[in-house]
Amino acid sequence: MKTRIITVTLNAAIDKTYYLAEVMKGRVLRAEKVLAVAGGKGVNVARVLRQLGHEDVAVTGFAGGYNGRFIADQVREYGIIEEFVKVRGESRLCLNFMDSRDGSSTEVLEPGPELGREQAEEMKAKIGALASQSRLIIFSGSIPRGLPADFYADLIRIASSCGAEVFLDASGEPLAHGLAAVPQLIKPNADEIRPWLTGSGERAVAAAVTKLMDKGIPNVVVTLGEEGALAGIKGRIYRIHIPRIAAVNTVGSGDAFLAGFAYGYVRGWSSENCLRHAAAAGCANALSPIAGDVDVGNYENLLQEVSVETWL
Ligand SMILES: Nc1ncnc2c1ncn2[C@@H]1O[C@H](COP(=O)(O)OP(=O)(O)OP(=O)(O)O)[C@@H](O)[C@H]1O
Ligand SMILES: [Mg+2]
Repeated sequence: MKTRIITVTLNAAIDKTYYLAEVMKGRVLRAEKVLAVAGGKGVNVARVLRQLGHEDVAVTGFAGGYNGRFIADQVREYGIIEEFVKVRGESRLCLNFMDSRDGSSTEVLEPGPELGREQAEEMKAKIGALASQSRLIIFSGSIPRGLPADFYADLIRIASSCGAEVFLDASGEPLAHGLAAVPQLIKPNADEIRPWLTGSGERAVAAAVTKLMDKGIPNVVVTLGEEGALAGIKGRIYRIHIPRIAAVNTVGSGDAFLAGFAYGYVRGWSSENCLRHAAAAGCANALSPIAGDVDVGNYENLLQEVSVETWL
């Protein structure tokens, strides 16, 4: 029985946070503390999977230069197998300047290396090779400059034909194209579901979920931030309720949610149970200052406070 879960981060990054007394334009700012964490959505999912106790986790994507080596090294330190495709140029640095006076955050996001046909072919071969040894492949995040918007669709078809199941957490065109390759699960948030929404409120979200299930996607999960989530699984609709918490940083909560769901999914748990663990992981992430980071004690406490209601 295969147990490996691969996460794919085409646009891997270092998330670097500078803690400053005050962020002021045109001044010399001295940081009180600096935090550098290997990031990108798939790396976040992989880290949370390891924190939840899944042993066999690997990451791939494109990594380049000094930043690429930093990401690969840190990922290995988490006990994750590193399978990045190495490219020329520097992987992205995503800078976050935290102002301790007003709590604001100012971000600078690098675009990352521009890629082309050669790298695309290398990634297709990599996914084919990894998929044949894996239970599940999770594709997360944006597509790098220079690669086509339907690249995920190609990769999903390759992964599926090699015997792996596929989850897709993307938005916009990559998500729309990806649907045609029929992944087992998609996880848009309230904003990313908008192209399928007519109207507002929970009923409209449920209608959009049904529309997407009718395209053959067996698991459609829409996360709604502090409002929990609404999911359509094998024709049934579920409403996931979460407790009110004092959130510290909700970035990466969707990634943690996906990790929690995947953890249960590969163990053959019921839909309700997968959703409960997913929501607890999402909430636990919101309690950590780091994106894609879950304290297991918080997660276990939150599990008792999440409820899953069958809607239809
Ligand atoms: N403020 C919050 N309080 C409690 N739980 C939260 C909060 N924000 C998010 N969560 C939990 O995390 C899950 C996913 O959150 P959200 O919908 O914000 O994901 P997302 O927008 O995809 O995030 P990202 O892409 O940054 O990882 C929610 O379903 C919920 O369980
Ligand atoms: Mg998300």
